[in-house]
Amino acid sequence: MTDLSGNAPPFDAIHHGDNLPFMRDLPDACCDLIYLDPPFGTGKRQTTARNGHGYADDVAGSIENHVAFLEPRLRESHRLLADTGSMFVHLDYRAAHYVKILLDRIFTPANFLNEIIWHYRTGGRSSQWFARKHDTILFYAKNKGQHTFNVIRGGEFRTDGLNRDEDGRPYKSTKNGRLYFHPDGPAITDVWDIPFLSTVSKERTGYPSQKPEALLERIILAASNDGDCVADFFCGSGTTLSVAKRLGRRFIGCDRQADAVEIARQRLASAIAQRPTT
Ligand SMILES: C[S@@+](CC[C@H](N)C(=O)[O-])C[C@H]1O[C@@H](n2cnc3c(N)ncnc32)[C@H](O)[C@@H]1O
Repeated sequence: MTDLSGNAPPFDAIHHGDNLPFMRDLPDACCDLIYLDPPFGTGKRQTTARNGHGYADDVAGSIENHVAFLEPRLRESHRLLADTGSMFVHLDYRAAHYVKILLDRIFTPANFLNEIIWHYRTGGRSSQWFARKHDTILFYAKNKGQHTFNVIRGGEFRTDGLNRDEDGRPYKSTKNGRLYFHPDGPAITDVWDIPFLSTVSKERTGYPSQKPEALLERIILAASNDGDCVADFFCGSGTTLSVAKRLGRRFIGCDRQADAVEIARQRLASAIAQRPTT
């Protein structure tokens, strides 16, 4: 296990290798937040034509095999979560419904929090069905009610007849006077409209399936606090780890692709350089 800055593992380090034995070696309850973005079970190798970076998503052969691959990793994740911790599992239409049933078994339905719809606009079209423009992110608490959750606000209120006072604060006139709304906007719901990384985005690393930092920023701000440990055992290009570091969290990362680990390390080095010094 390699450490970026010479600190003792497992914190602030990225492991290169299969995540299952790695997770099995970690102590109980060492993670406050786990985000998992496994291969979607597409049956194809995922590559970036431009530079050849890629990973296999063709090992499973069937949805049953894919779920069987995920199951021990999801069970380990549950063990690794602190009592106040939570997990986000990023999926698409292929496996989301199978994995929901599996996670209900592992976490119990009582600890299910959200089915988050990440809506984006880019990608393919079809003349035979509605264009598929969302991923599903399942959000579970280790113990609902004890879990860390910070309300995130943003966007515009959709309420009819909204006014702004002289200080720009939103309100609605009612027969009892002004009804003020939160100045930071409405609380974010479970439908997230966040653009996919464009082909010319500065964030792009060239690694396939790279997720936008804005998506991880929302997850990390909502479900962890300063100094908490954020883990991503399918870390790819290191989006989660890099955002976690920038936001003052510790991280644990793992990927079995050498090029992913190399890209993630480079991103982390620049995230550390960007952190404000206090
Ligand atoms: C969808 S990509 C993750 C992309 C990442 N969220 C990002 O923003 O770059 C899935 C990753 O899981 C890794 N992976 C697949 N099976 C693995 C395993 N058994 N152990 C560790 N990593 C694995 C792949 O190499 C790939 O990098």
